[in-house]
Amino acid sequence: MSDSPAITEASVESAVAAALEAVAAARSVADLKAAKSDHVGESSALARMNAGLRALPNDQKAAAGKLMGAARGRVNQAVAARETALAQAEEAARLESERIDVTALPRRRRQGGRHPLSLLQEKMGDIFVGMGWEIAEGPEIEHEWFNFDALNFDADHPARALQDTFFVDPVERHVVLRTHTSPVQIRALLGRELPVYIVAPGRTFRTDELDATHTPVFSQIEGIAVDKGLTMAHLRGTLEHLARQMFGEEAQIRLRPNYFPFTEPSAEMDVWQPHAKGGARWIEWGGCGMVNPNVLRSAGIDPEVYQGFAFGMGIERTLMFRNDLTDMRDMVEGDVRFSEQFGMVV
Ligand code: DAH
Repeated sequence: MSDSPAITEASVESAVAAALEAVAAARSVADLKAAKSDHVGESSALARMNAGLRALPNDQKAAAGKLMGAARGRVNQAVAARETALAQAEEAARLESERIDVTALPRRRRQGGRHPLSLLQEKMGDIFVGMGWEIAEGPEIEHEWFNFDALNFDADHPARALQDTFFVDPVERHVVLRTHTSPVQIRALLGRELPVYIVAPGRTFRTDELDATHTPVFSQIEGIAVDKGLTMAHLRGTLEHLARQMFGEEAQIRLRPNYFPFTEPSAEMDVWQPHAKGGARWIEWGGCGMVNPNVLRSAGIDPEVYQGFAFGMGIERTLMFRNDLTDMRDMVEGDVRFSEQFGMVV
């Protein structure tokens, strides 16, 4: 072939040197493939010299053939060795990149925590369900008649005043955010067959500023029992049972005379908390009393035949006492770190 480069020791050596250099410089299997095609492929210098062997005079063929064979052998060997090395390195790199640490801690999704007020509310409800009572509900946006009138509040009772009660605009509609859970008493009496034994936990609203001991949105649990022959002794026994379930077997209650429009007689209930962190103590826990006959009449019940007792207490205060919390704001901020401290039990 006329275009075959001359086969001399120098030309062969320089083609081999170029090939070996390219092979050594290959950084990947792909690089090496390119080097191979450049230096041993059909149009490479070595391949073209090799093709030129045939055209040589017979007396030169043997020596040139030997020279070419040795040259191509060296290059092929180098290619094969580099090929193995690069393939191994690439495999090792792949394995390294796929390495997983089987001892690593799994990345778990945070479970969050139910709010302790919800847990406590359910716990208190469960204590009554355990005594055969039912859970009742009423709306948070309530008609003034249920929130005040039916509960025997005078038309000019100070609690109705705009500074205590959130009124829904316009005021003439007489719709309020319920200021206590007591309106559920009326709804339960109107909506159920007698006798009635219900508790109603839920959210309540008053125009208080948020501070360590007040919050405009809070929660209460209301209870009412209406049956034949109920007395103050039934009220006392019920509250005592609740107190023991909530604060331990040695808990006691005491009733101090008080006034509520919807009960007569009315009492403030204190509970003796035997296991408070700072030592045993009396705490003011809620209000209670015998259902005022006017309330029974509002619900169409004859007070000569049926009697009732009722009570109501704040859930936030209960949580504060039971868990020695000092700032109500923690309960309303909705920071999950607060809830998580309680786990699933309060
Ligand atoms: N509703 C009262 C309040 O918000 C609490 C209360 C007192 C509820 C006496 C009652 C009760 O059922 O008999 O302060």
